[in-house]
Amino acid sequence: RSDLKATLLEINKIAAQYYYVQLKSERGAVAYDYLTDRGLSEETIKSFGLGFATKYSNDLYNYLKRKGYSEELIRQAGLINIDEKNGVYDKFWNRVMFPIMDANSRVIGFGGRVMGDAKPKYLNSPETAVFDKSRNLYGLNRARTSRKSYFLVCEGYMDVISLHQAGFTNAVASLGTALTSGHASLIKRYVSEVYLTYDSDDAGTRAALRAVPIMREAGIAAKVIRMDPYKDPDEFIKNLGAEEFEKRIENARNGFMFSLEILSKNYDMESPEEKTAFFQETAKRLIEFEDELERNNYIEAVAKAYRVNPDSLQKLVTKTAIKEG
Ligand code: GTP
Ligand code: MN
Ligand code: MN
Ligand code: MN
Ligand code: MN
Repeated sequence: RSDLKATLLEINKIAAQYYYVQLKSERGAVAYDYLTDRGLSEETIKSFGLGFATKYSNDLYNYLKRKGYSEELIRQAGLINIDEKNGVYDKFWNRVMFPIMDANSRVIGFGGRVMGDAKPKYLNSPETAVFDKSRNLYGLNRARTSRKSYFLVCEGYMDVISLHQAGFTNAVASLGTALTSGHASLIKRYVSEVYLTYDSDDAGTRAALRAVPIMREAGIAAKVIRMDPYKDPDEFIKNLGAEEFEKRIENARNGFMFSLEILSKNYDMESPEEKTAFFQETAKRLIEFEDELERNNYIEAVAKAYRVNPDSLQKLVTKTAIKEG
């Protein structure tokens, strides 16, 4: 079994090298241009080991066969599809390739992006014996050696790469899946604070809202950075640069306070009735803080931010705690 894993890692490594060579070859020019047009330097492309899967069918499959790997092993590495109608064919075809590495820089899978608007935009390796999406983070192999005491957790491959290129070498991303408690415990091995740097759209906001309690349960303090008026960290950096991004880090919102701000949008705070309902919901969330000092600090912060008497809020929280058992 561990033999199988070692072989799959070996196949993945050879595939990554193959994709890289293709990127640097003449037929990879279209992909290389795509990456440099998106602002990546030669050094960045090299250090992330980016590559290109050509549009010649079974390019990689044939290459790996020539290297002596069986169809079955290549399938188990997730690099080919097999079906009755088409037989065996390369999973990744005419895509820019992002090798995904584990914390020890071993290639465990790939993400592949189309260069135009085709769907799906990204194709990811399936989970394999060496690739567990919920226990790995893109960029972790580099972020773990950053001197920062926190990680920037963002959505996409390009976000991580742009951030690293701009000097934020503590950026990581989950792999096209929502952040899980598995990711949180992985993060906790390295840092106990994160800045959630998700996309500005509704999906990104929802992802940040879901991540805040997952982090808290793992004992990680979460702050939230907003990327507006841009879509995501990649576009933010491209348009406003590293210094402005640094300011967003400095002005990051506390994760809990951010959640309340989003919650408050559901209530008309001019209406006494709705404002009361908002505080009732807020009290339910405040009782989640088991540490009394921490809870009191949040009660104070909420009272201040939403202009309510802190003693009244304190009483409401106590009452809610009794009611909710
Ligand atoms: P760019 O357009 O290259 O800048 O990508 P992005 O990272 O900004 O894309 P987006 O915000 O749409 O998605 C964030 C991440 O979700 C990506 O980096 C992928 O990991 C994943 N993702 C996006 N689109 C797809 C898709 O079509 N299929 C799958 N499986 N994952 C996707
Ligand atoms: Mn999993
Ligand atoms: Mn997105
Ligand atoms: Mn993007
Ligand atoms: Mn995005």
